[in-house]
Amino acid sequence: MKESAGAASLTPPLHHHHHHQHRLRKKLATTFAKPTAYIFLLLVSYIFGYLSASSSSSNSNIINHHNYPPPPRSSINTTNRAITNQVSATAEDHNLFGTVCAAKAVPPKLVRRTILDRVFNGTSPYDNFPPPHISHVLRPNKISGWGSTGAVFEHLIRKVKPKTIIEVGTFLGASALHMVKLTRQLGLPDTQILCVDDFRGWPGFQDRFKDIKTVNGDVMLMYQFMQNVVQAGATETVMMVPFSTEAALEKLCTWGIYGDLIEVDAAHDFHSAWSDINRAYKILNPGGVLFGHDYFSAVDNRGVRRAVNLFARLHHFRVQVHGQHWLLYPIK
Ligand SMILES: C[S@@+](CC[C@H](N)C(=O)[O-])C[C@H]1O[C@@H](n2cnc3c(N)ncnc32)[C@H](O)[C@@H]1O
Repeated sequence: MKESAGAASLTPPLHHHHHHQHRLRKKLATTFAKPTAYIFLLLVSYIFGYLSASSSSSNSNIINHHNYPPPPRSSINTTNRAITNQVSATAEDHNLFGTVCAAKAVPPKLVRRTILDRVFNGTSPYDNFPPPHISHVLRPNKISGWGSTGAVFEHLIRKVKPKTIIEVGTFLGASALHMVKLTRQLGLPDTQILCVDDFRGWPGFQDRFKDIKTVNGDVMLMYQFMQNVVQAGATETVMMVPFSTEAALEKLCTWGIYGDLIEVDAAHDFHSAWSDINRAYKILNPGGVLFGHDYFSAVDNRGVRRAVNLFARLHHFRVQVHGQHWLLYPIK
């Protein structure tokens, strides 16, 4: 009701409009007494009649919109759909992960420096760690993961001898720190391990990991991960990239940071795994291996396996299974 009153004050009421037309017709009739004047008068009346009809029909449209319940979303989006059609969206768009990665790769020995500069304003986040207001909520060492010490890690590190490893999904660092141990044992002390994780876990994960504390709504997952890295004496080897996998992998691509081994183990639903695998593949060095966890997990309707299989089919890879892990190799 309030909206109708507001609209009436902005546009003249319809009966004023009709009075105005009437007076105009009368004036024209006295001015033009000749037959040609009658023709002119008829023409003018016709034009006025047409204008008032179209304005009253658009008014009624407005009123109808206010009186009827909102249309379903599909009809609200009609305009958007038209725009989408204009730019020729196709199902193929689902497979496009557009950013073109830097043509020149950052040399492995500059990878760590590049992350410090790009992400941490040139300083090491391990300096003066842990901050005093956090130290009391951290455990000296709290490591737990899933399949984090599987034989696949040693198999791949021996085979590829990676200079840069990128882990997509790190949690408390169990698999990353296992890889640190292996690179040391296998005589690869300079290997850098980048850990991509937003360190938020997932809604409700603290039901199971009760000793990861929250301070003012901020879960201490990244700090506990860092504490574990400090405890393992690996601060010169392991560096986190603490953003969503999507944003972090896009940035690594534009910065020219490529990996020789890339492990995907973040969210397990099809769309997340699909995005992570596609984006990770873009930053895989020639001769490198893309692999990941949970090929057999039934979680999220077997999202990981469906994404891996689809990717392999589209890009002509064969999927090799190693324990709980999947590995992709080009079909020769
Ligand atoms: C299964 S855990 C990783 C376990 C680790 N690889 C191990 O074996 O110890 C998954 C991790 O992915 C992270 N994660 C899930 N979805 C993410 C996203 N979209 N962006 C960033 N991190 C994400 C979660 O925070 C969690 O730490």
